[in-house]
Amino acid sequence: MGFADLESVAAAMVAAGKGILAADESSGTIKKRFDKIGLESTEEARRTYRELLFTTPAMAQSISGVIFYDETLRQKTSSGVPFTEYLTKLGVVPGIKVDMGAKPMAGFPNETITEGLDGLRERLMEYYKLGARFAKWRAVIDIGAGLPTSYAIHANAQALARYAALCQEQNIVPIVEPEVLMDGGHTLERCEEVTSAVLLEVFQELEGHRVHLEGMILKPNMVISGKKCAQPATPEQVAAATVRCLKRHVPGAVPGIAFLSGGQSPAEAALHLSLMNAVGNLPWHLTFSYGRALQDAALSAWGGKPAGFAAGQNAFAKWARLNGLARNGRFKPGMEAQAA
Ligand code: 13P
Repeated sequence: MGFADLESVAAAMVAAGKGILAADESSGTIKKRFDKIGLESTEEARRTYRELLFTTPAMAQSISGVIFYDETLRQKTSSGVPFTEYLTKLGVVPGIKVDMGAKPMAGFPNETITEGLDGLRERLMEYYKLGARFAKWRAVIDIGAGLPTSYAIHANAQALARYAALCQEQNIVPIVEPEVLMDGGHTLERCEEVTSAVLLEVFQELEGHRVHLEGMILKPNMVISGKKCAQPATPEQVAAATVRCLKRHVPGAVPGIAFLSGGQSPAEAALHLSLMNAVGNLPWHLTFSYGRALQDAALSAWGGKPAGFAAGQNAFAKWARLNGLARNGRFKPGMEAQAA
């Protein structure tokens, strides 16, 4: 098997001015999001909300791909077109979350290992038939007293690499997502230290598992101070530390890096991405693969009510467009207040 398909899909996912919409909330996570707007999480409510996002006019101008959850990959628009077919026609690549979640790691209190490797080859075959051309697997690393341990980093990196190899065998581009959480009171320096250790291990394992780096996308956290840090880092510090850390640990053969937002506000996430792209002369494309930073405003504007549908779409369109600008280094603070 050649790698041409993998490389062309990966290139499309990080095309200029575009990024990825992470709409792959598991049933448990989407329930938490709906709870905030007082909406019961029924299958039809979840379908309606995803239809709101996917049918937003002009979204394809700034969105290159959408990450689905299993249920959504099988759902249709209200006029009966499968979501995957609807998006593919617009030139938006469908992708699928394939991990089964971060579970407590036996023998390692307060650390997790992501599950989902058993049977993965067969699931990938089915997802390909359903239209998915990329996949996502998220490993979770928490910073705390004495944490993370080097062995939990190793075990998670190994699972990520086994997943990535299986994806490529099935002609599916793996998004490799090792997320260092921004919960807690740690400093930017501590986040940089842990993110460096994680990326080092992840790329060692990817090489060990013979993963074709040109046919994958990395989805990392930004290097940022914890949410409860007494002295939060400035946006310029976040951008500089993130670029420095990535340059040290991510081979230039990787075509693109698509960040998670991880609990940053939409404006923070856009500004950080923009500042990094403004640096220029980077070996890889830098873009977004945001969940909350793209969806939070849309979800509140919609409010779960038919009357809020258009307002929800406008809010999603606005943040997709602003992040499209950030992807090219052209988002400026305050733009969100002016944007319609
Ligand atoms: P957030 O941008 O909300 O962190 O979600 C991205 C994602 O896909 C997490 O796995």
